[in-house]
Amino acid sequence: MRKRIVAGNWKMNMNNKEAQALAKDVAKVLGNVTDVDVVLCPTFTSISAVADSIEGSSLGLGAQNMHWEEKGAYTGEISANMLLTAGCRFVILGHSERRSYFGETDETVNRKLKSAIKAGLTPIVCVGETQEERESGVTEKIIETQVRGALEGVASADFDGAVVAYEPVWAIGTGLTASTEQAQEVHAFIRKLLASIVGEEVAAKTRIQYGGSMKPANAAELLGQPDIDGGLIGGAALDAESFAGIVNAS
Ligand code: PGA
Repeated sequence: MRKRIVAGNWKMNMNNKEAQALAKDVAKVLGNVTDVDVVLCPTFTSISAVADSIEGSSLGLGAQNMHWEEKGAYTGEISANMLLTAGCRFVILGHSERRSYFGETDETVNRKLKSAIKAGLTPIVCVGETQEERESGVTEKIIETQVRGALEGVASADFDGAVVAYEPVWAIGTGLTASTEQAQEVHAFIRKLLASIVGEEVAAKTRIQYGGSMKPANAAELLGQPDIDGGLIGGAALDAESFAGIVNAS
């Protein structure tokens, strides 16, 4: 049985003070939850404040991006080790907003994945098709390219413990959610694909989150699907009560 994992992707929201307040609110309602992994992913600048606010709770901390190099002349970038030593255990990689606005490719996601694993961070690798791709019937092809690209050259044992997030781009921040059937279908496809890349055993253990307008009202149904092991939550993670509603549905 895979332990559920629900992560809040705060994106570029919440200044330091707001992030601290939200983290404290979340810790109040979810700070003792141990049957689900609950992870907060604030902006880089709030990582340290959030780390302090959730200290002693069961909540985990993650970042929204990182650079693949360990250190050096990369102005504006942040390495896996920096995240780790700031208190992060998780890092979101290849979010569709990074891919579409900041030029991330399967190749850069692959380099980041290798670097995150090497540093000891748990990666959350995001994949997902656009509306146009879904409508033209190439969803599986797109997902396969993204998953194979991200995992290129990654040893099966190294991928053990990693998390994948399926986020249909058309469902992110739009209020549109994939139907439970649509989501389950792609999750099952990803698991089968993973089995062919990293083997049955690791694939069966890999947690696959759904992301895209997940909220308390639709969480239970999505999370009731056999291959949906949690959620990557944007908008609904910015409010402690609604985030808790999703975690409690897990
Ligand atoms: P959303 O975002 O929940 O606001 O749709 C999800 C995500 O982008 O991770």
